[in-house]
Amino acid sequence: MRKKVVAGNWKCNTTVQEGVELAKAVNQLVAAKGPEDVVVVLGAPFTHITKVVESVDGARVGVAAQNCAAEASGAYTGEVSASMVKSTGAQYVILGHSERREYYGETSEILNKKVALTLENGLTPIYCCGEALEIREAGTQKEYVINQLEETIFNLSADDFKKVIIAYEPIWAIGTGKTASTEQAQEMHKDIREAIAAKYGAEVAEEISILYGGSCKPSNAPELFANPDVDGGLIGGASLKAEDFIGIITAY
Ligand code: G3P
Repeated sequence: MRKKVVAGNWKCNTTVQEGVELAKAVNQLVAAKGPEDVVVVLGAPFTHITKVVESVDGARVGVAAQNCAAEASGAYTGEVSASMVKSTGAQYVILGHSERREYYGETSEILNKKVALTLENGLTPIYCCGEALEIREAGTQKEYVINQLEETIFNLSADDFKKVIIAYEPIWAIGTGKTASTEQAQEMHKDIREAIAAKYGAEVAEEISILYGGSCKPSNAPELFANPDVDGGLIGGASLKAEDFIGIITAY
């Protein structure tokens, strides 16, 4: 049975103190009115993770790193390895976000290494894919997004693939306030699930949670989440306000 997941991606925002306060506020709201069948995850900056883990009820609120190193360990100044993330108590790693692909040159080769290390360390990848506006305007978004998956997580065994959460984030909807329509979201999620079924079989395809990301707000989440192939959201801006974030968590 695939899980409903609402994951926040705080990106490069909040001090440690602000992050801990945000985590505690979300934790209280989830305890008070969060549906038991919705997996809630907070994607915090590396500096915050240990304290955020300590600030929430781990049975109801998970914690994600927003990245990890492509190497297990060694002379890579400034990098944070998957094993280091594991040691903080986090359970997830957001990988392949379009901002990391664009600004930090993350290629499929690099992402393959990061996914493997994340899984080796018992962490769950939240693996991002999505097209730029010019791809959408050209009408080749399906081929583009499926190719992103084929070059990376489609290399995994079925057992490992089942551990992955996928997040479809049309780049033109990220931070723009221009959310994909419910039809656009459902169409791409269905395309992704059909590609998974073709590669791994229908049973595996039915188990995979596919999240939508890109200007998801409490106002549009109910319509987006009502789609048969939308299993939740990866939330940027709206995850920085506890009341907005719980508004999305309770949108099902
Ligand atoms: O990873 C989620 C993020 O890219 C979406 O950002 O601000 O459009 O919800 P936002």
